[in-house]
Amino acid sequence: MKILVATEKPFAVEAVQGIGKIVKEAGHELFLLEKYTDKSQLLGAVADMDALIIRSDKVTAEVIAAAPQLKIVVRAGAGFDNVDLEAATARGIVVMNTPGQNSNAVAELAIGMMIYMARNGFTPGTGSEIHGKTLGIHAYGNVGRLVGRYGKALGMKVYAYDPFITDPAVFEADGVTQVGSVGELYARSRYISLHIPATEQTRGSIGYDLLTSMPEGGTLVNTARKEVIDEAGLAKALEERTDLKYATDIAAGNQQELDDRFGKRVFATAKKMGAETGEANINAGLAAASQIVEFFATGCTRFQVNNQGQ
Ligand code: 3PG
Repeated sequence: MKILVATEKPFAVEAVQGIGKIVKEAGHELFLLEKYTDKSQLLGAVADMDALIIRSDKVTAEVIAAAPQLKIVVRAGAGFDNVDLEAATARGIVVMNTPGQNSNAVAELAIGMMIYMARNGFTPGTGSEIHGKTLGIHAYGNVGRLVGRYGKALGMKVYAYDPFITDPAVFEADGVTQVGSVGELYARSRYISLHIPATEQTRGSIGYDLLTSMPEGGTLVNTARKEVIDEAGLAKALEERTDLKYATDIAAGNQQELDDRFGKRVFATAKKMGAETGEANINAGLAAASQIVEFFATGCTRFQVNNQGQ
């Protein structure tokens, strides 16, 4: 089978080498399209591919139509909002992610951003400590759980909310206090770490009301997706509540305006970098390669995120 690794962002060299080893040992061929700048390059590269490994690269209906042999797409990472699931499913293409493989890198960045904001962007002046403060984890998946664990280790009081986890034992086992609603989470938490995916339900769901319900010094840290933020509501909240802060790994559509108006109270990384560690690249890349090899060998569809035939 022909397997293409297509990533606009560079993958760690060791990740590419590791993927190559797994793929070749299983008798498949590996192709690499790295750091491409034009989507036409992707359209050309997928033409005779059986499998595709991507990061946040957009796999649109057009890409799928350009790949008549394609049987499986694996997103080396957690979020799969970059893949047109409907188009893939209509063609019977299996789409998978590699949950948990890059979570630690993102969780470490979220904690780093909290400290950065607490210390006024590492500029002179009196900052504060995150020790002893409240931390709300919005969505308790792989990344959220790690952020909660690290927050506890730093002496934070951790709350969590996840509409898809109903068993209180999950939270109890981690020593985290489960709250019953999003509203309660924001109202209780000085820091919020956001880990919701971008879906029809979550788009624009974090805005003025939730932000202005946060306690004094409220700080929202977004290492999830920019689409979940109501950007006009965020700007309005920052305007009215001069104690609020916003840090993100995915620059807002109105980031320049936010920077100009709110200075050190807002921060955005120059480029999304939550999963930009060698470890995360290697873990996610190798998992993606292994999942594809297993799929072709046994038909295993563990980690499939679309449902064929529906
Ligand atoms: C993910 O969904 O896995 C993270 O947002 C990281 O994405 P990336 O691989 O595009 O950096």
